Amino acid sequence: MDRKKPWAEPYKIKMVEPVKMTSWQERKQFLKEAGYNTFLLRSKDVYIDLLTDSGTSAMSDRQWAGIMMGDEAYAGSENFYHMEEAIQKFYGYKYVIPTHQGRGAEHLISQIMIPEGDFIPGNMYFTTTRLHQELAGGTFVDVIVDEAHDSESEIRFKGNIDLQKLQDLIDRVGADRIPYVCMATTVNMAGGQPISLKNLREVRELTQKYQIPIVHDMTRVAENAFMIQQFEEGYQEYSCAEIVKMICDLTDSATMSSKKDALVSIGGFMATNDPVIFEEARNLVVVYEGLHTYGGMAGRDMEALAIGITESVSDDHIRARVGQVHYFGQRLKEAGIPIVEPIGTHGVFLDAKKFLPHLTQDQFPAQALAAAIYLESGVRTMERGVVSAGRNKETGKHNYPRLELVRLTIPRRVYTQAHMDVIAESVEYVYANRDAVRGLEMTYEPKYLRFFQARFEPCPFVGEKTRMKKKRLNWRSRMLA
Ligand SMILES: Cc1ncc(COP(=O)(O)O)c(C=O)c1O
Repeated sequence: MDRKKPWAEPYKIKMVEPVKMTSWQERKQFLKEAGYNTFLLRSKDVYIDLLTDSGTSAMSDRQWAGIMMGDEAYAGSENFYHMEEAIQKFYGYKYVIPTHQGRGAEHLISQIMIPEGDFIPGNMYFTTTRLHQELAGGTFVDVIVDEAHDSESEIRFKGNIDLQKLQDLIDRVGADRIPYVCMATTVNMAGGQPISLKNLREVRELTQKYQIPIVHDMTRVAENAFMIQQFEEGYQEYSCAEIVKMICDLTDSATMSSKKDALVSIGGFMATNDPVIFEEARNLVVVYEGLHTYGGMAGRDMEALAIGITESVSDDHIRARVGQVHYFGQRLKEAGIPIVEPIGTHGVFLDAKKFLPHLTQDQFPAQALAAAIYLESGVRTMERGVVSAGRNKETGKHNYPRLELVRLTIPRRVYTQAHMDVIAESVEYVYANRDAVRGLEMTYEPKYLRFFQARFEPCPFVGEKTRMKKKRLNWRSRMLA
């Protein structure tokens, strides 16, 4: 990052919410009750919550004032028009359909655009996005650059699409069986990695040749724009808002989880420049989400979103947001912790395969590591590995992703630098005692998006590599015992 400007927060704190540390014995019990799945913990039992950056932002005084201006009319709420104006102004899409959150928009676009048997290329999968594509009868095809699957590769725009992979898919299945290319800014499952504008332009050129539209998963578009401003040649003089607009202008439709970039607790939307898709979405939304002027959101939430969008593209805000993530990542890196590099924008991702080399991927190392971090420190993190990857739709076997990660996601405007230091120390402590962390076995597996509700138990020691057994014995009574 540009060292000349500090990343200090461009705000002061007006209201605080107490957090409480629990004892190790308590956490051991909570973890057991939660089936070793951090999604199943109660938030009151968490000290610092890095489960997600979704819906966890601190809203500004202006947003809270906006909440008081909620026009809770069933139809034609004034707040909808404010939200629509903000989306058109900052993102540039012509037509807007509100949804209760991102997956609501993914559902609509998948149902509208994907005929049974079609293929949807994308820059790595996202859990809900892929599931909606599959439920519509499509097959997701990963066309991200190879480096995205390698936690050590330090190329700057690891979210980019590999044009050759995309061309190969077009040649193999035919352009008419590709309803759209899904381009995410940034790529969550790769560690929060951005795309470059150069790559997006090239993808645009290729897809236009075949008349394939681009659907933009714009969940973290402002963070992506910041990385372009910092690292892509030729964009240093542009504001984050201008770059956001450039990205959106190169795409045809979008899905958005406003719970991330846009600084609200709930909400999302689908947007498009295509009047035919808009007409269908405007009709379908009433079946699944609500009338087309609220789509599952309260008027007050739409107002907070309109204001949140404006704040999210401010250079000062985004510099502080990504600056904090980088400060934290740098601390872990300096302590020798294996993290995904380069550091992304919404969190720091631990490489669980390298962190816990004594576990096989069948023992869910990232899940085990997330559990161990909670047990030792009360910090809640999330698995992004084999559990999140689910099962292959044809064979029913586990998908084994190359990246087996624990995500430490930083909520926006919520925690301080001291919190970052405490978390870093906690991870360092677990790393120093990593040999004692036991693998897990899955005892309950839900059918859809299993990572949310699956339950686990610690593996017996039998079958684990014995290299570290001796050391582990001292720890047996502590870590996940
Ligand atoms: C890249 C990406 N797309 C889509 C979604 C889904 O959004 P939501 O959780 O609002 O349904 C998420 C949520 O984490 C995401 O990170």
